Amino acid sequence: MRILLTGGAGYIGSHTAAVLAERGHEPVILDNFANAERDVPARLARLTGREIAVIEADIRDTEQVTAALRTQPVEAVIHFAALKAVGESEADPLRYYDMNIAGTIRLMQAMQAVGVGRIVFSSSATVYGQPESSPILEDAPTRVENIYGRTKLVMEDLIRDLARTGKLAGAANLRYFNPVGAHPSAMIGETPRGVPNNLMPYVTQVATGERAHLNVFGNDYPTRDGTGERDYIHVMDLAEAHALAVEHIAAHDVSVTVNLGTGRGTTVLELVRAFETTTGRKIPLVFAPRRPGDVASYYANPALAERLFGWRARRDVEDMCRDSWRWQASRAGINDV
Ligand code: NAD
Ligand code: UD1
Repeated sequence: MRILLTGGAGYIGSHTAAVLAERGHEPVILDNFANAERDVPARLARLTGREIAVIEADIRDTEQVTAALRTQPVEAVIHFAALKAVGESEADPLRYYDMNIAGTIRLMQAMQAVGVGRIVFSSSATVYGQPESSPILEDAPTRVENIYGRTKLVMEDLIRDLARTGKLAGAANLRYFNPVGAHPSAMIGETPRGVPNNLMPYVTQVATGERAHLNVFGNDYPTRDGTGERDYIHVMDLAEAHALAVEHIAAHDVSVTVNLGTGRGTTVLELVRAFETTTGRKIPLVFAPRRPGDVASYYANPALAERLFGWRARRDVEDMCRDSWRWQASRAGINDV
């Protein structure tokens, strides 16, 4: 299939482009490069041995996206393009409503104008808010705890409504747990701007010496060792799930909402230990107060993804640490990996 990847030059989009190309699909990247490096398509071309078409556009520009889809017809869209920082969404709500919700509406208008009726959407486990218990199933109650989370829920509802009313033939809302890791080639990976909010990028920057120590936010949670527990998922597993999801909705014309996680929880201290063992790098840490808005523990029940797509995460926490480190070390010019 020819598949449009909005935000395809970003972290998860670029890995998905690589996997789609490997599986014989033809990814077409649409990105405004607001949060992506310009040379990502060139790196993908080296990695896959294939030129990958790139449309430089903003998803909110319906006219430009419609025109691009007329010259580059596609059978499905995987919609990654969004703003994704929780704190920023609370500081600048209108920007988040505009980029995420208005942007998705504009994109859907362009898709309708050219008759593209299949979409895979990047949602997030953030829609579960503070879950009552884990593992979390897809029918667990959703809760909005910040504006970023609200935009994800609104976009999910929008997509489900369009599928229910026959405006979309197939749709998959994919709720990611905590994506980490990088392509094992270290040619693509995550490049956070400024001080990383998320744990793994912070740990890798401590390992390169860019940051002095890791602040562990809270060691008094009701978990095995008192630190927060999450379901980390390797970005290559996540990328493979997208390929299977788009193939599934194209084959069956269905609308589905599916968790993507490993089903296993890892605490902050467990992740740090796995990182130290796998990479041989020491991560100095300091216990700090809990981060406001954080949940003690959550992890997925990923059984639905296996039943529908035949997918399950294959990579473990050691793979995640090794590949995150390879990527960060190569960026920092460190050659001992
Ligand atoms: P990312 O920022 O690396 O990728 C997003 C891409 O979209 C970037 O390349 C950016 O330049 C592009 N973009 C942003 N606004 C755009 C616009 N208006 N028009 C065109 N392009 C635009 O983020 P990511 O980590 O790859 O996340 C991809 C998706 O997955 C997002 O929707 C995010 O909310 C969701 N998600 C991410 C995580 C995570 O931890 N990374 C977790 C759950 C869900
Ligand atoms: C965060 C976002 C969530 C988003 C997800 C993307 C918040 C409140 N939630 O989730 O909406 O979907 O990222 O992956 O921002 N930690 C430290 N020190 C650090 C960084 C993190 O101890 O420097 C701890 C956190 O307290 C948490 C765990 O590491 O227990 C994971 O944190 P993080 O990677 O930020 O992910 P989430 O909080 O799950």
